[in-house]
Amino acid sequence: MPFKPGINRNIVPILDAPYPFDVVDKNRRNAVEKFGKDYIIDFGIGDPTDPTPDVVRSACKKAVEDRKASGYPDTPGHAGFKGAVVEYVKKRFKVSLKPEEVVATYGAKYASSKIPLYFLNSGDVALIPNPSYPPYTSGTIHAGGVPYYLNILESNDFLPDFQSVPKDVLKKARLLFLNSPHSPTGTVYPNEKMREAVDLCRENDIILVSDECYADLYYDKPPQSILEVSGADECSIVLNSLSKRSMMTGYAVGFYASKNPELLKPYDRMERKSIQGVATFIQDAAAAAFKDEKHPEEMRGVYRQRLETLLPALRKVGCEVRKPGGTFFVWAKVPAGTTPLKFSENILLEKGINCVPGNIISHTFNGVNPGEKYVRFALVPPIGKVREAVERLIKG
Ligand SMILES: Cc1ncc(COP(=O)(O)O)c(C=O)c1O
Repeated sequence: MPFKPGINRNIVPILDAPYPFDVVDKNRRNAVEKFGKDYIIDFGIGDPTDPTPDVVRSACKKAVEDRKASGYPDTPGHAGFKGAVVEYVKKRFKVSLKPEEVVATYGAKYASSKIPLYFLNSGDVALIPNPSYPPYTSGTIHAGGVPYYLNILESNDFLPDFQSVPKDVLKKARLLFLNSPHSPTGTVYPNEKMREAVDLCRENDIILVSDECYADLYYDKPPQSILEVSGADECSIVLNSLSKRSMMTGYAVGFYASKNPELLKPYDRMERKSIQGVATFIQDAAAAAFKDEKHPEEMRGVYRQRLETLLPALRKVGCEVRKPGGTFFVWAKVPAGTTPLKFSENILLEKGINCVPGNIISHTFNGVNPGEKYVRFALVPPIGKVREAVERLIKG
């Protein structure tokens, strides 16, 4: 008899769906074969190429030396980490958190994909911007939940239209994911939109999950945290991360915070009963990162220079691009008559420039794929490479 293992049926659709970046990777491999690896200028995956700041690396090294006996880490986070988060949130958002309202996480990807498992029951709905970060969807499906997508369209200023959600869907909705500044459009939600989200959630008993991992990557006004909105305390969970703020993708660390104990308890307790906490020396490095305001400020300047270099060239080749309010992404509408896939393949295979077709990171929902005319550029190559990309783009 052949061995027939069981499987959680919820995850079958996730396993069977193509990983969006597989297409990008395949095209990239072809381009590497054609040009050689060093010729490719990669605006594809949003993984910072800039070094983790000295202040963070030093704190990490020191922590390894100081903590001679290892010891298990505190799962919810140690006092030094929590204290640094409390201080950061106070300084940056003028919001007072208590240490017990903060939990250390392996970053926002981990936490956002786990949250649905802790708060959804089979058939419950999660309201998810489309496009948005894929773990919101995979976590929801894993939990047996049903994603209801909020299409992010130019006609709505790249903001979710909460009024468009049918009443019967709202009744079943238990989670709303928000992400401001929004990946990949770069939209910073105005205060009224945050207010509307909080009101919607409170009126309908929906937990608002605010992914604020780009809160410190902005071009003009610093984006708000959901915790600054009155009434949000009751219904919100905040996720933050040092991956992008402090170029710490390899450290995988962030925090989960809520002022409502009911929204902390399931995550905090289940994590404590399931896994070990974030490594102590990583928490020490994270504390140093949250205490330092200098490096995020420098990085805002670096991303601004890359943005201001790339935008005119994209416009010159016929793309329509709005200046983003935050993140390090550019969401560019491709010229009429082409598609995101054709545009991205063309610049990759002709000019060695890699970007991501918007349609593969968006879902077709209610007959619309909000990414069907867009490509995403992540401003991660150094300025010299961005300038070279500009030259190659406008040379024709
Ligand atoms: C919206 C959003 N949230 C979270 C993450 C990842 O967070 P982390 O690296 O902390 O897991 C990303 C990374 O691209 C992202 O775009």
